[in-house]
Amino acid sequence: MRRRAKLLAATAVGMVLATSHVRAAASAARGEELYQSCQDCHSLDSNDIGPKHRGVFGRKAGAVPDYNYSAALKASGITWNEDSLDKWLTDPQKLVPGAKMFFHIDTAQDRADIIEYLKERAK
Ligand code: HEC
Repeated sequence: MRRRAKLLAATAVGMVLATSHVRAAASAARGEELYQSCQDCHSLDSNDIGPKHRGVFGRKAGAVPDYNYSAALKASGITWNEDSLDKWLTDPQKLVPGAKMFFHIDTAQDRADIIEYLKERAK
């Protein structure tokens, strides 16, 4: 009986570890590296093909005054938080039909890390 209980306990620990590996805490440091893929069009402090990102977390979509947004994004009523940014980075066109960002990130962990970077380091 005892051995069996230990074995079950060990299995449970293994499962927790396996799960936590998949759902690692979001890492701003890793997000900063991944953000390089955004820099073809974005930077934190100047508008380029895309709007500047400083302070984007918690802000309304389409709110940088001197950037020429699509009408669709301006009218979206979205506020950028973990959930909306995750949807945006998964498929901008699906979240906001008519938006003019054509880029997406396939991996959930990569999106979470990029969002953490924007939240923590791009204030
Ligand atoms: C190929 C160019 C391009 C790339 C690469 C790109 N974007 Fe964009 N992004 C845009 C454009 C253009 C817009 C403006 C969309 C609109 O007005 O409809 C935009 C808008 C945004 C917005 C909305 C900002 C606001 O002020 O409302 C966020 C957030 C964003 N991008 C995040 C990212 C992130 C994070 C990455 C990297 C993972 C990324 N983008 C990669 C072109 C790009």
